[in-house]
Amino acid sequence: MKVIDLTDEHQQAYFVCLEEWSDEIKEAGDHKEMWHREMKDKGLRVKLAADENGQVGGMIEYMPIEYGFAKGSDLYFVNCIWVHGHKQGRGNFQKRGMGTALLQDAEDDAKALGAKGMAAWGISLPFWMKASWFKKHGYKKVDSQRGLVLLWKPFSSDAIPPQWIRKKYTPELTPGKVTVTSFINGQCPAGNMLHERAKRAVNEFGDKVIFSTINTNDREVMHQYGEKDALYIDTKKLTPGPPPSYKKIQRLIAKRVKRL
Ligand SMILES: CC(C)(COP(=O)(O)OP(=O)(O)OC[C@H]1O[C@@H](n2cnc3c(N)ncnc32)[C@H](O)[C@@H]1OP(=O)(O)O)[C@@H](O)C(=O)NCCC(=O)NCCS
Repeated sequence: MKVIDLTDEHQQAYFVCLEEWSDEIKEAGDHKEMWHREMKDKGLRVKLAADENGQVGGMIEYMPIEYGFAKGSDLYFVNCIWVHGHKQGRGNFQKRGMGTALLQDAEDDAKALGAKGMAAWGISLPFWMKASWFKKHGYKKVDSQRGLVLLWKPFSSDAIPPQWIRKKYTPELTPGKVTVTSFINGQCPAGNMLHERAKRAVNEFGDKVIFSTINTNDREVMHQYGEKDALYIDTKKLTPGPPPSYKKIQRLIAKRVKRL
């Protein structure tokens, strides 16, 4: 197994989290590709893990924290590490050491680029991206917000710990209408899927629903609201981990419309 740089050959697979087999992920549209186009000139790094036959089974994506989803400086931030674990498509590559190799390679790369440490996020509960996996690899918790744990591994004694950007958004409601607000960043296909599903769902309700999109790839906007990927149906918040189905989003909007 070896860790390789992302090349044009694997770009389309990376844009869909190595899940070309999934019809669901196609709903995410081309936001990831657009995001990648913009961020690759801002220090974004993507590495892939390939097995002995050259088959790619895992990926890691990290970038300078100054452009990332937490507050900090001189650190790199792991947006995503994913080793394909589904039976479909390329198959299950988990528990063969790919995740460990990808993280090690990313840390070595960040050090060589002069970073003072690596930051990463995880979930305190044992599903999706587990914070405990990073702890096993020497990361320490520095902050947490609503179950999202921020961890880091300093490389030098003068490294400054990162912090979460605090959630600040309070939905503004319009009397006589349902307000649907979609925060979309582009980085995460699950977030992009949530946005696209919501956009489709609101179409069913005509002028009873006000739909607005807030692009959080603008750093100032992300700091202003403290949100990256999220959907608000009036005050009800939905998050993309994993993204709620189209039917669920539509049902929640319908419930609010009924109450008008
Ligand atoms: C967390 C994750 C990256 C780990 O990747 P991985 O390739 O399975 O990790 P590794 O193989 O390096 O390590 C996993 C385990 O396999 C074990 N292992 C590693 N190599 C092994 C081998 N050759 N044989 C048997 N076991 C092995 C490790 O000891 C480790 O054990 P642990 O679970 O007790 O810690 C992967 O499980 C994943 O992608 N999970 C989902 C994460 C996610 O939701 N990402 C989206 C975020 S945007």
